[in-house]
Amino acid sequence: MTAEGEPTPGGVDGSGLDDEAAMRLLRDGKLDVAGRLVEATNMTLYCSIRHGGQVAACVYKPVRGERPLWDFPDGTLAAREVAAYEVAAATGWRIVPPTVYRDGPFGPGMVQLWIDTDPETDLLALVRSRHPGLRRMAVFDAVVNNADRKGGHLLPLEDGHVYGVDHGVCFSADDKLRTVLWQWRGKQLSRDAVTMLTGLERDLERGRLGRRLRELLTPAEVEATWERVRRLIQTGIHPYPSEDWPAIPWPPI
Ligand SMILES: Nc1ncnc2c1ncn2[C@@H]1O[C@H](COP(=O)(O)OP(=O)(O)O)[C@@H](O)[C@H]1O
Ligand SMILES: [Mg+2]
Repeated sequence: MTAEGEPTPGGVDGSGLDDEAAMRLLRDGKLDVAGRLVEATNMTLYCSIRHGGQVAACVYKPVRGERPLWDFPDGTLAAREVAAYEVAAATGWRIVPPTVYRDGPFGPGMVQLWIDTDPETDLLALVRSRHPGLRRMAVFDAVVNNADRKGGHLLPLEDGHVYGVDHGVCFSADDKLRTVLWQWRGKQLSRDAVTMLTGLERDLERGRLGRRLRELLTPAEVEATWERVRRLIQTGIHPYPSEDWPAIPWPPI
């Protein structure tokens, strides 16, 4: 158990693969498109990926299928999704399913492990709850400046762990935090979160995370990420919603 009382996830999800094996499979596997996710706004494809006897389901979002966004003129949604995974991996909290940037049948894009969710979970109740995994996700969202944390972007597992997906509109250099997870606003960050943030700052300054983010994001976006981490450590609290922009995504679920 961690300080927050959430069981430490074992690193294995619906696919039966640990994160390292999943990352290898996503990088090296043969990608076959099975269908398109209808509820998705961009070209979001449901695929199978196989390599050396291993097979898993995954999501593939080719850059070619991205709608241009006026408030995210630089880079690609796919690169920001991978950057969000890199931050999540650096937190050690397993907030984002394994995600890579690679080529596919419709050109380069992001490929993410498919996570089987618990159909019994009431998303509305979950969103309003004080689930410790969501509290961690709230800290993660503040770090990556997530502009679209809605209920449908939460993937609850049967073992109680919750993953987050759809991180294409993160990392703006301007504050844009838009989320349904405001229940901890103004609350002191947990000791666990402060420890994580301190590690993150070090990793951004001189570790692998800084190098990776500089490959995936603009210099201003990387600098702003670092600044948000420093601000969180300095204030020691979960951020408040802004009064300058809608702080809850629409629709919220
Ligand atoms: N890795 C994943 N595992 C399981 N379900 C996913 C995964 N990624 C996305 N989904 C499901 O597909 C929906 C659409 O994907 P999303 O990433 O939100 O696409 P878009 O960028 O087009 O909005 C999500 O709301 C979620 O229900
Ligand atoms: Mg979405």
